[in-house]
Amino acid sequence: MNSTVGIDALAFAGPAAFVEMTDLAGARGVDPAKYLKGLGQRRMAIASPCEDPVTMATEAARRAMQGFGIEPEEIGTLIVGTETGVDHSKPVAVYLHELLGLDRRCRTFETKHACYGASAGLTASMDWIASGRARGRKALVVASDIARYGVGTAGEPTQGAGAVAMVVADKPRLLALDSTRIGDYTRQVMDFWRPLYSKYAFADGQYPIECYLDALRGAREDAVGEGGALLENLGACLYHVPFVKMAFKAHQREMEVELGRSLSKDDNDAWRRLTDSYQRLTSPWLGLNAEIGNIYTGSLFLSLIDLLRQAAATLSGHEISMFSYGSGCGATYSIGRIEESAAEWRHALDPAEQLAARRRLTIAEYEDLIEQSERADTVERLDPAQYGLAGGLYYLGTRDHVRQYAQG
Ligand code: HMG
Repeated sequence: MNSTVGIDALAFAGPAAFVEMTDLAGARGVDPAKYLKGLGQRRMAIASPCEDPVTMATEAARRAMQGFGIEPEEIGTLIVGTETGVDHSKPVAVYLHELLGLDRRCRTFETKHACYGASAGLTASMDWIASGRARGRKALVVASDIARYGVGTAGEPTQGAGAVAMVVADKPRLLALDSTRIGDYTRQVMDFWRPLYSKYAFADGQYPIECYLDALRGAREDAVGEGGALLENLGACLYHVPFVKMAFKAHQREMEVELGRSLSKDDNDAWRRLTDSYQRLTSPWLGLNAEIGNIYTGSLFLSLIDLLRQAAATLSGHEISMFSYGSGCGATYSIGRIEESAAEWRHALDPAEQLAARRRLTIAEYEDLIEQSERADTVERLDPAQYGLAGGLYYLGTRDHVRQYAQG
């Protein structure tokens, strides 16, 4: 490893309600197996009008800082990666800066490049630390998004919402990233986008999947060179997860790159090797993605949380790969090492309790919430109790063009 910079603290926060995939399939007249097996999703988190990218990001950041004993004055850079901005001009990050009580001598900004925004923030933070400009301080990078495709669309079962906060530091407690093995990839493509006039994203059928897999090949090649036998030496392979099945397609592409040929089910031995490798390196860490859905910028890091909460001790000292993809498109492939101390912190990053407390929505309630969220920026006073929210930070509506927040 050529670096001692990486992820020192990690936490998730998400909405208080979810939709069960079997309920959605029933309402849409679709075979539930398509969502459960075909896409690999069990549930999707649904944000109420009082839960927005600011509230989720703040909660995740508080959990990461409090859970890992990090004081506000230790943070010298704050970056929020999001594609669900709340203002064309004002960054989500500056709301967080105030709500978290961070020092004024702090560099604060928002990054946008679809799901890749927070990964860009992560590598920018590493560069900030490596340059010496951090002067011993840490960076807080938060991924926060609401994924919406619209009722009845093909993307509907791949929605979700949530935030992941990471503190990036020298000598990290969780994951050290190797700055010499981070690869980048950029190509202008119209695979998925959300024009300024729309709350909903547009996706061009199966084309985004093709773009994702091309970017994986490109970013991986930039990180570790062409082909090569990387997988057998890794402890885990994590991917951007718009839906769980996508991680299998990604793993297949990685193995095809290594073997220098395409794989199909008819090729029995190679297919078995692929499924064994997937079951060892990727599939055990997709439980949170299946429960929460696509959270865009945070989706890759949700897998990292799942891995660390389950296997930080057994995989201690092992190298893992992480692939981040943002439509449009931008991507990064990186190699990191799980630190020995990670096992001590697995309870601090485990969101199991939060998830167990969530409320299951009926499909009628879900459709109603989506409709109300459409109008949330034109309402002066929302009522958090109406959405079953008790405690935490709420978005209360917009008065005189100013967003209002309150601590419950
Ligand atoms: P679709 O076209 O309705 O579904 O929507 P499909 O026909 O492709 O079926 C999906 C899978 O279910 C297939 O499996 C079917 O065979 C299977 P596969 O062949 O791919 O392995 N299936 C069944 N399995 C069991 N029993 C059944 C059954 N029926 C079918 N009865 C699509 C799929 C992904 C297009 C849609 O959900 C969508 O548009 N999602 C949004 C876009 C997306 O997530 N794209 C992924 C790559 S782009 C990306 O990751 C970036 C992103 O996160 C945004 C960003 O960067 O900001 C999205």
